[in-house]
Amino acid sequence: MANQEDLLKKIIAHAKEYGFVFQSSEVYDGLSAVYDYGQNGVELKRNIRDYWWKAMVQMHENIVGLDSAIFMHPLVWKASGHVDAFNDPMIDNKDSKKRYRADVLVEDHLAKLEAKINKEVEKAAKRFGDAFDEQQFRETNPRVLANIQKMEEIKGRLYPAMDRNDMEGIKQLIEDLEIVDPISGSRNWTDVRQFNLMFSTQMGSTAEGASNIYLRPETAQGIFVNYLNVQKTGRMKIPFGIAQTGKAFRNEIVARQFIFRMREFEQMEMQFFVRPGSEMEWFAYWKDARMKWHLNTGIPADKYRFHDHDKLAHYANAATDIEFDFPMGFKELEGIHSRTDFDLSAHEKLSGKKLRFFDSETNESYVPYVVETSIGLDRMFLAMLSNAYTEEKLEDGSERVVMKLPPFLAPTKIAVFPLTKKDGLPEKAREIMDGLKMDFMCFFEEKDTIGKRYRRHDAIGTPYCITIDHQTLEDNTVTLRERDTMQQERVPVSKIASIVSEKLKINW
Ligand code: GAP
Repeated sequence: MANQEDLLKKIIAHAKEYGFVFQSSEVYDGLSAVYDYGQNGVELKRNIRDYWWKAMVQMHENIVGLDSAIFMHPLVWKASGHVDAFNDPMIDNKDSKKRYRADVLVEDHLAKLEAKINKEVEKAAKRFGDAFDEQQFRETNPRVLANIQKMEEIKGRLYPAMDRNDMEGIKQLIEDLEIVDPISGSRNWTDVRQFNLMFSTQMGSTAEGASNIYLRPETAQGIFVNYLNVQKTGRMKIPFGIAQTGKAFRNEIVARQFIFRMREFEQMEMQFFVRPGSEMEWFAYWKDARMKWHLNTGIPADKYRFHDHDKLAHYANAATDIEFDFPMGFKELEGIHSRTDFDLSAHEKLSGKKLRFFDSETNESYVPYVVETSIGLDRMFLAMLSNAYTEEKLEDGSERVVMKLPPFLAPTKIAVFPLTKKDGLPEKAREIMDGLKMDFMCFFEEKDTIGKRYRRHDAIGTPYCITIDHQTLEDNTVTLRERDTMQQERVPVSKIASIVSEKLKINW
């Protein structure tokens, strides 16, 4: 665990040092849970967004895009249920004056019990060596069994209390478990209260004329309220989808773990409109398609897992998360939800406008059912960073940090190095780069030794570096160096584009 925490710290430091992610408003000591993307971060983010857009819109004839506004009519959030139910239970510690999510305090307690179990297992595995049967140990060891039972009892109280909005029940659980504030160490807690996560602001210039509006907490509602506009103008036939990427805002009570949980973040969402009754088939289709999208990055399958929800939101009849093995352990990266006709029906009711589809195959008019795929762009960014971050010891005893990003996502594709700043080498290097930069993001570097330049580009994940030397002036060849293997080969300038293109191909 300590190692994993260290890893997250190293990734945060690396992300800052190499221009991926900065704390927002850092010169004023930062704004909590808000981040800015630097020169390399913005490229990686754009590449991830493009990869998603290509897979969802370009590769599906029946999915089109949308870019709806962040501000929406306040009734949108009444219909969607966000005004009344987009809440988290919060609790304050009276001594430290810190605010926590009450359910997260209990979940942290559960994680401690789980860590105890894992420690027992690790110890036993060392003691018994090859003969160790982990499953049998977990099923029979009294200490493990006692902790499993404790965990089950806690879950059996927490989740029903959350479902019932039973704030007193959650407070009682915190007291019974003797949970202390991690900062003050005290158990001097306030009552648990519901806290709405939407940010609100005023629209309009005069006090009387101004109305309260919200910053959208999800992009999905912009799709629902435009469903008929797109269906009619695009002459879309069910099943069809609408995809959109954009900012969402949530006043998270506890915003921790870097860009994993932010107050301003970006979502990539797609709502797929289907015939009622066919939603389970489409739910299965999108589960499979979205997992393939993740695996096509080349990241090993054991980094991902599904977590099917037992406890469903009131509007869903099936839901699953794709979880990723972040430095903090397996956590939600993407959600796939079968949302029934909940949203469209709610908007029909509150707006008084029909949001139906006339199905000429069945001669029926109905409110379509919806299967949604929803992924946080920033979370995907963190998944890519944490998977890529590699510390390597080299044969000559030196060390390097290399970002083994999937090449098609790397911020820079080709770094161009003239060996020296004289003899016409920079001019030749620029000429070569001019021939490549329409197709590839290139970066020109002439400072420092070639070794140092290699290290800098390893650290941002550049898949190829090319060096222009005196031989280049004679035979128009360069040294092409590959990031992961560090192998170098002499290649004609005319072949660079095809070698790099091959490396950047996505395995659809
Ligand atoms: N429209 C459905 C929806 O918004 P969600 O599970 O609340 O569902 C979807 O959010 C995805 O958005 C999550 O899987 C996560 O990747 C991302 N996300 C949610 N809250 C976030 C936050 N505070 N910071 C960063 N990403 C977040």
